[in-house]
Amino acid sequence: MNVAVIGTGYVGLVTGTCFAETGNHVICVDNDPAKLEKLNQADLTIYEPGLELLFYRNIAKKRLSFTDDLNTAVLSSEIIFLCLPTPQGEDGSADLRYVFAAAKEIAAILKKNESRIYKILVNKSTVPVGTSSAVKSILSKEGITYVDVVSNPEFLREGFALEDFMRPDRIVVGSESKVAIEKMKALYEPFVRQGNPIIEMDPASAELTKYASNAYLAMRITYMNEMASLCEKVGANVDLVRIGMGTDNRIGKRFLFAGIGYGGSCFPKDVNALIRTSIEMGSEMKILTTVDKLNKERKLLLVDRVMQHFDNNVKGKQLTVWGLAFKPNTDDMREAPSVVILNRLLELGAKVVAYDPVAMKNAGFYFKGSVQYADDEYAALKGSDALLVVTEWNEFRNPDFNLLKSNLKEPVVFDGRNIFEPEKMKELGFTYYSIGRKPIIAKMAQGL
Ligand SMILES: NC(=O)c1ccc[n+]([C@@H]2O[C@H](COP(=O)([O-])OP(=O)(O)OC[C@H]3O[C@@H](n4cnc5c(N)ncnc54)[C@H](O)[C@@H]3O)[C@@H](O)[C@H]2O)c1
Repeated sequence: MNVAVIGTGYVGLVTGTCFAETGNHVICVDNDPAKLEKLNQADLTIYEPGLELLFYRNIAKKRLSFTDDLNTAVLSSEIIFLCLPTPQGEDGSADLRYVFAAAKEIAAILKKNESRIYKILVNKSTVPVGTSSAVKSILSKEGITYVDVVSNPEFLREGFALEDFMRPDRIVVGSESKVAIEKMKALYEPFVRQGNPIIEMDPASAELTKYASNAYLAMRITYMNEMASLCEKVGANVDLVRIGMGTDNRIGKRFLFAGIGYGGSCFPKDVNALIRTSIEMGSEMKILTTVDKLNKERKLLLVDRVMQHFDNNVKGKQLTVWGLAFKPNTDDMREAPSVVILNRLLELGAKVVAYDPVAMKNAGFYFKGSVQYADDEYAALKGSDALLVVTEWNEFRNPDFNLLKSNLKEPVVFDGRNIFEPEKMKELGFTYYSIGRKPIIAKMAQGL
C-alpha cells in the first residue's frame, strides 16, 4: 500500500519505518526543516533501540522517504496517518490545533483535486473523544465525503517502540466504516500473525481506550509511590510488597515499581486531558485529579531527601545526577523528573554535574541554570558531595562501587529508582537513601 505519515516524531518515525519494513511505500511528512534535512541524509532524529537498522534498510530500498510536500504525500497515498503532537493546553485539555490544521490542509488539497479517489485518514495521535467526528466534519464541509476517518491510537512505549509496533498486544481500530476497518486490518495483518487481536470499535471508544490505558498505568505507578511512603513509615520493603502483589495474576507484575514520579510526553498530559474531558462531561474522575497532584509532588521527593541530609542547605554543594531521560532507552526528556529535580537543586544553590548515555544533547533546553555535563558516569562523580540516581539506565545498575565511592567526596547516594541493594550499600559503607526501603546512614552501617 501507499501510506503517508504526517508528523515524523517519536510515533511517526517508528510508524513509517515499520510500515515500510512490511513492504509498503511510506512518505513521511514533517514541517520542521532541520528534522527533514537530517532524515534526508539518513540521519536518525531520535534514539530508539533497533530503529536504525530498519530505517537504513527501508531508505535504501526506497520504501521510506521524507518530505515537507503534504500535497504529494496525500494525493499518492491510500492511507494517511496523523502522528501529530497533542500537547497539554492551558486548561489541561489536549491542544488539537496541529491535528485540525493538518485536517484542514488535507481537505483543501483534496478539494482542489478532481480524482476523488477513496482514502482513509487515520488519527494515531492521542486525542479526546469527538476528534474523529470533528475531523470528519472538517472534510465534509469541503464536500469530501469519499474519505473515511479512523481512530487508531498508538500504544508503543519509547525505548521499546520497535518491539511494541512490530508485535503489539493489540491494535485498536475505531471507525464507522467497514471498508476502512478491512483496509486497516490488511495493513496491520503482518504485525498480528501470532494472533494478537485487532479490536474493532466505534471511534469514541477507540479514542477513550487510549486515555483509559495511560491514566490507569499512571494511577498504578502513583499507587505504588504512595505504598512506598507507607513502607518507609512502617519499616516494610516496597520491592518485596511489589513482588508479593505482582505475582497475583489479577494484578500482574508490570508498572508496580515505586520511584520519583512518572514523566514523559504522554502520561502527564493524557491524565490531564482525561481529567478535563471528565469535568467537561460533568463526571469528574477525581481519582485522576489526585494522581496528577501526587505525581507533581513526587518529583520533588529526592530534593526533599537531599535537603534533609544536608541540613537544609545545598549552597556550594556539588551533586551528581545519573540519568536525565524520563526513562531508560530514550533521549526524550519531556516532563522528566530530572527537569524538576535539577531546576530545583540549581535554584537552591547547588552545583549540578549530570551524565546520561543519550539524553544530554536534549538537556540544555530544559534547565534554567547551568548544568555541567560529564563524559561518563564516573567522571561525573569527581568531587561531588552525593550521587542522585534519577533514571534507571542498565549501565548504572552494576557500577564499580569502589570507583563510585572513591570519586565522591562523601559516599552518599540518593537512589530514586531502587537500582542498588540496601544491604550491599551498607557493607560498602555508603549512606544510602532509596524508595520505600529503610535509609542506611553510613555511621550506623559502620556500627558507630
Ligand atoms: N511518544 C510516545 O511514546 C507516544 C506513544 C503513543 C502515542 N503518542 C501520541 O502520538 C502523538 C505524537 O507524539 P510524538 O511523541 O510522536 O510527538 P513528536 O513531537 O515527537 O512528533 C510530532 C512531529 O509532528 C511534526 N509536526 C507538527 N506539525 C506538523 C505539521 N503541520 N505537518 C507536519 N508535521 C508536523 C513535528 O515537527 C514533529 O516532528 C501525540 O498525540 C502523542 O500523545 C506518543
